[in-house]
Amino acid sequence: PIDAATWPYPRWIAHRGAGLFAPENTLAAFRLGHAHGYRMFECDVRLSADGVPFLLHDDVLDRTTDGKGGVAGLDWPALSRLDAGSWHSPGFRGEPLASLQAVLSFCEAQDCALNVELKPTPGTEFETGVVVARTLERDWRGRLPPLLSSFRIEALRGAQEGAPALPRALLIERLEPDCVDLALGLGCVAVVAHHALITARFEAWLRSAGLAVLAYTVNDDAEAWRLRQIGVHGLITDRVDHFDPAS
Ligand code: G3P
Ligand code: MG
Repeated sequence: PIDAATWPYPRWIAHRGAGLFAPENTLAAFRLGHAHGYRMFECDVRLSADGVPFLLHDDVLDRTTDGKGGVAGLDWPALSRLDAGSWHSPGFRGEPLASLQAVLSFCEAQDCALNVELKPTPGTEFETGVVVARTLERDWRGRLPPLLSSFRIEALRGAQEGAPALPRALLIERLEPDCVDLALGLGCVAVVAHHALITARFEAWLRSAGLAVLAYTVNDDAEAWRLRQIGVHGLITDRVDHFDPAS
């Protein structure tokens, strides 16, 4: 089992694949992060209308694909035809949306760890947690178990229902006085907090509850140094070009 005292994951985690210099949440971004030496990736996963887990951050297609409007209602055959690369830069024209299956194959082949953020389309929180957790439990062959995280409590409940043995983390963007109780109640092994929330006191509070502490999204040297001094377990970054993942 995964626990904070023996946290086995790489310290540095590439955000949205490595989604600043390649289109976020596509295999091109994973390849780029890997080329920079990164061996753990965060990505945002939701379900298509026909129940296929795939990577997309937003509830709408407009920002990161050539599609328009809400993603709810579209099935995977339609989604898989979209161009998820041109918005980023011409060199990535035609890069498709990534299915979770394709990401699992990549991570297994490259011996990389994975943090799947459940980013459910509104109204599908619990189902998304169940289906994604079951998919990971059934199909993941990697060395370290995938870490499932979410801001959405119902999605974490779904993950707990679908595959109780897979490690979970509660994502928080504000300081909630009950976040430790909430995380423990959901059987989480970690809290992934907005980096600015993490003080030495906050870290000690979580650590004393047996929870690992990870920070998102850390792109600045001074902030990375501060968090390393505090002793966080993991740092999620966009700047795969800048931070040495071996540091
Ligand atoms: O999982 C950490 C981070 O990705 C959460 O924020 O909006 O980038 O998915 P967001
Ligand atoms: Mg995310």
